[in-house]
Order: sequence, then C-alpha cells, then structure tokens
Amino acid sequence: MDEVRRQLRSFSDAAATEGKFLDWFERLYDHADSNPAWIPWSKGEPHPLLIDWMKKTNLSPGTALVVGCGLGEDAMYLAELGWNVTAFDIAPTAVQWASERYPHERIDWVVGDLLHPNKEWEKAFDLVVEVHILQAIPEEFRIPASRNLSPLVSSAGQLVCIGRLCIDDSIEQDGPPWPLTKKFISSVGNDLKSIDFTPIQFEGEETVRYRAVWEDE
Ligand SMILES: C[S@@+](CC[C@H](N)C(=O)[O-])C[C@H]1O[C@@H](n2cnc3c(N)ncnc32)[C@H](O)[C@@H]1O
Repeated sequence: MDEVRRQLRSFSDAAATEGKFLDWFERLYDHADSNPAWIPWSKGEPHPLLIDWMKKTNLSPGTALVVGCGLGEDAMYLAELGWNVTAFDIAPTAVQWASERYPHERIDWVVGDLLHPNKEWEKAFDLVVEVHILQAIPEEFRIPASRNLSPLVSSAGQLVCIGRLCIDDSIEQDGPPWPLTKKFISSVGNDLKSIDFTPIQFEGEETVRYRAVWEDE
C-alpha cells in the first residue's frame, strides 16, 4: 500500500471507529492542503466512461447534477460541453478547492449530502452523474444514498453511474472502495429504464469498472 492509500485508510478507519463514517473524505481533502497527489481518485481529467457516453449520445446540454463531485473534473467537462451544472460534495474543502480550480459561470458549487438532497433538486436534472461515490461509502449509507439518485432525474432525463464492478461476491471486500455487484447496480435506477450497462477493464488495471445508464421514460 502506498503512502496515499495508507493515509486514506487511517482516516477512514479512524472515522469508522468514531462512528462518523463519512467524515474521512473531509479529513483527507483537508490533509491534502491543496495538493491533488493526496487524492487518489483525482486524475485531473473527467472519467473516460463519462466522456465516452457524452460522445456516443451527443445529448443536447441542459441541467446536470454531479453528485460527490470531488475536485470537479466531471463538472468542468460538462460545463464546457454547455451544460448548466450543479456540482455537490459532502466535503466542504473539496467544494472550495474545486470551485477555485474551475471557476466556471455554468457551474454552481454546493456543499451537500446525497443522503439528504435539496428538495428543489427533485426531478430537476436532465443528467445526473455519480462517479465512485456509492462504492466509497459503507453499505448502510450506500443503500439509502442510492435510492436518492433516480428522484433527481427530470422527465426524459438520464442517470449515469460509474464505478468498480464486483465480479466475485464470495470474496469479502476490504473497502473503501467496495466494488459493487451487478445486482446492487441494477437496483440503483429504480423505476427508470436501463439503457446501458458497460463493464470494462482498462489496460494495465486489474479492476473491472462499469458504466450504468438509465433514462426516464
Ligand atoms: C471516491 S470520491 C470520487 C470523487 C469524484 N466523483 C471523482 O470521481 O473524482 C467520493 C466522493 O464522494 C463524496 N461523498 C461521499 N459521501 C457523500 C455524500 N453522502 N454526499 C455527497 N458526497 C459524498 C466524497 O467527499 C468524495 O469527494
């Protein structure tokens, strides 16, 4: 385990011991002190599976919600495509950092919790994007958080989820992150219509990733 992973683990273990399971994100962003090298999920660019989807579908820009936006790469990508983006994260330091990194007139940066989404977000977004959040939070939070995604999608809108796919659920996962089973992923869309499920293994990676997309009919 490298130093960054060790630090992440020590924050997530400590937060779990204190019963504050979601606090470690803020502790890690704060510890990073504006150095992205401490944030293992931040690659400085939008997720390739999101780019691929946007290129494939060429959706007309509308309103987009980026859930658990981290350092903001996906939000910035969508804003540059012309979307009016609301990007939120539970960690105030991440939101502040992302807003300084990507001050874009079409992005509204917000501190928020997927477990308690703003009431005015209900059915408000033509595109809802979730990248690596559900896999990063323990099951007791993941299940209620996942149920809050589909209600945010507007009429005819889409929900795009990207993460790690669990290919053998007989092996106990020592997360975070916790790769997600196909069965769990299928439940995330709720009453939306599934229009894409793409598993993929990127070159040089052992991890299998997925993109799942649903549409409001
Ligand atoms: C693994 S990171 C991924 C960040 C970003 N989506 C990316 O791909 O770079 C998970 C993010 O979800 C945020 N997060 C965790 N629980 C959350 C919640 N309940 N509501 C909103 N954001 C949350 C964390 O602060 C963190 O920024």
